[in-house]
Amino acid sequence: MSNVVHVGLAGRAYDVHIGPGVLPEAGSLIGPLLRRARVAIVTDENVARLHLRTLVEGLEKSGISSVSLSLPAGEGTKSWPHLEHVTGWLLERKIERNDIVIALGGGVIGDLVGFAAAILRRGVRFVQVPTSLLAQVDSSVGGKTGINAPQGKNLIGAFHQPSLVLADTAVLGTLAERDFLAGYGEVVKYGLLGDSTFFQWLEGHGSRASAGDMAARMHIVKRSVEMKAEIVTRDETEQGDRALLNLGHTFCHALEAATHYDGARLLHGEGVAIGCALAFELSARLGLCSQEEPSRVRALLRNMKMKVDLSDIEGELPAVDALIALMGQDKKVVDGKLRFVLARGIGAAFITDDVPPAAVRAVLQEALAARG
Ligand code: GLY
Repeated sequence: MSNVVHVGLAGRAYDVHIGPGVLPEAGSLIGPLLRRARVAIVTDENVARLHLRTLVEGLEKSGISSVSLSLPAGEGTKSWPHLEHVTGWLLERKIERNDIVIALGGGVIGDLVGFAAAILRRGVRFVQVPTSLLAQVDSSVGGKTGINAPQGKNLIGAFHQPSLVLADTAVLGTLAERDFLAGYGEVVKYGLLGDSTFFQWLEGHGSRASAGDMAARMHIVKRSVEMKAEIVTRDETEQGDRALLNLGHTFCHALEAATHYDGARLLHGEGVAIGCALAFELSARLGLCSQEEPSRVRALLRNMKMKVDLSDIEGELPAVDALIALMGQDKKVVDGKLRFVLARGIGAAFITDDVPPAAVRAVLQEALAARG
C-alpha cells in the first residue's frame, strides 16, 4: 500500500513513493532507472544497523547488486572531509554518469550524498531513501543539497533533484519519540503556511500519527510532500514562494546558533516549532492576525508534547540583543534586511522584509521573560 506524489519539474520530474513496505520494494522501483544492475548506497552507521539489509535484499530481489558505505551518524558528517571521502569512494567504486547513488538516512545523509552526486562527474543521478520524519516531509524532496561550512550551516551546496524518493512510513517506527516529534514540527509548518484544513486535521488526529497509526502517518507525510512538491515546482531555486517553507526558520536559526547546534538542547525541528509559534506571535503583534491564532498554534504543539516556548529550551539563552544579532546572520538577510515569513492567519503565510525591528525585539523580550 503506497501513495505516489509527483514532483512535476520540467525535465527533472520524479515520484515520491510513500507508505509502509516501500523499502523492501526498492528494487522494482529503482530498477527501471538503471542502465546496469548495480548501485552504490551511502548511509550512516545507525541507519545501516536498522535498515541497510532490508534495502540490499529489496534490491537483490530484482537482481540489483550494491556496494555500501556507512558514515558516522550526526551533523558533523555534513562536512568537507566526509564529502571528499564519499566522492573518493564513489570514484573508486567506478560509479559512472549513468549510475545511481542511493542516500539512505536522515537529512544529513540526504544533503551530503545529494551534493556528492551533484558534483561527481558533473552530476550523477541519486535516489533519496529518507528514514527520519523530517527527511521524509522536507529535506528529501526539492533538491536542496549541501554541507555545512565553519561560517554557517548549509552554506556550500547545489540544487540537484533526486530521480526518485522512497519514503517508507514503516521505518518511522524505529525513531525515538523526540526525533519523531522534531520532524512533526515541519509537518505542522505546512498546515500553518498554506493549508488550514490540514492544520485542523492535525488538531484532531495528530496524536494518532505520533502513537504509530500507519494511515495517519501516511497522511501527514503525503500532505506535506504534496505541499512541498507544489511549492518547489513553482519556484525551484527559491526566487520567491519557496521561502514560505522557511516559516519559523529565522527564529529557529537564531535559537540553534544560540544553543551551539547542540541537539541535546534543541533539534532543528523543535526550533522550527518554537519559531512558528514566535512567527505567529509576531504576526498578531503586528495586527496581521488575531491573538487567538498564536494561541491555537501553541495549543496544538503543547497537546503533541512538543517544545513550544523558549522555556522549553534547557540551559542559558543569550539576551535579546544577542538573539537579534544571530537572526541577522541568517541566510535570509537580503540587502541587510531581515526577511520573515509572517501570517494573516493559519494557512495564510506570506514573505516580507518590512518588519519593524521593535516588534521583533518585543516578541523575543516577552518570550525570554516568560522563562522566568
Ligand atoms: N527546507 C526548505 C526548502 O527545501 O526549501
